Amino acid sequence: MVAETPLRTSDLIAPLFVREAIAKPNPIGSLPGVVQHTQDSLRAEVAELIDLGVPAVILFGIPEHKDAQGSEAWNPDGVVQVALRRLRAEFGDDIVLIADLCVDEYTDHGHCGIVTPTGEVDNDATLELYMQAAVAQAEAGADIVAPSGMMDGQVFAIREALDEEEFFDTIILAYAAKYASALYGPFREAVDVTIADGGDRKGYQQDPANAREAMEEIRADLAEGADMIMVKPALAYLDIISRARMETDVPVAAYQVSGEYAMIKAADANGWLDGDAVALETLTSIKRAGSDLILTYFAKDVAGWLAEEAR
Ligand code: PBG
Repeated sequence: MVAETPLRTSDLIAPLFVREAIAKPNPIGSLPGVVQHTQDSLRAEVAELIDLGVPAVILFGIPEHKDAQGSEAWNPDGVVQVALRRLRAEFGDDIVLIADLCVDEYTDHGHCGIVTPTGEVDNDATLELYMQAAVAQAEAGADIVAPSGMMDGQVFAIREALDEEEFFDTIILAYAAKYASALYGPFREAVDVTIADGGDRKGYQQDPANAREAMEEIRADLAEGADMIMVKPALAYLDIISRARMETDVPVAAYQVSGEYAMIKAADANGWLDGDAVALETLTSIKRAGSDLILTYFAKDVAGWLAEEAR
């Protein structure tokens, strides 16, 4: 009766993986219960999520062919564009379709942009790729594009590209405060990404030691035209979520990332803690810190539990 922070199904966004050229769903070892979907199993999963009342999904693609630029990210027949078109045709407005906008799943070197001969990511050249990907995703039916590459100026570039093609209503959810986190480990398995030459993303993602810098990133993205912002990961960055909520007036999303999910699942599998209870507790805490929306691999489970509870 006096609970201040009710976790609701309408707070949840389900991250889903869709892979090209596989005949059946492919389990992801380090994310128990999560799979790489075929186009058909993706459609079935989205139907279930809609039934449970989950309002949105965010799609990640695993292409058959990767190249230096990640060109499948803007191919109109690329795996995510096909998925968006099919889901939109099948479900209309019953689900909000979000497209993760980056090239790391599509590049053969695993970086979020164009790599120069000296191994640096070329920020400004990469913006061109993001602009093409944004338009391809909007054309395919994305309601929201979510740039996750942390290139400077990406939100402005994407907004311009979308407006140029008259996608005025396509929303930008900016991964604004995205940390260079070891908690993305299982995600790399999920999307078959190995960063070339033992590289990392510290050149473009944020230092976990910095909080003020996160607010600077958030302000920059809002000034460039972001409609919503995201903090990622979630549990280790509750202070950032809280500051973002206090210092901005747009919807704040938080991403409970692959490693957060995997830690709970692993400890549960060992009988070391009650994974379902920890999932609910941590998600409630992420909401209490100030997030309006939570991206979580527990979305379907939680929606099921909440529906059960309501009965
Ligand atoms: C980049 C992207 C990543 C995640 C979401 N978008 C990986 C990265 O930045 O290295 C991680 C999500 C997760 O760990 O669950 N396209």
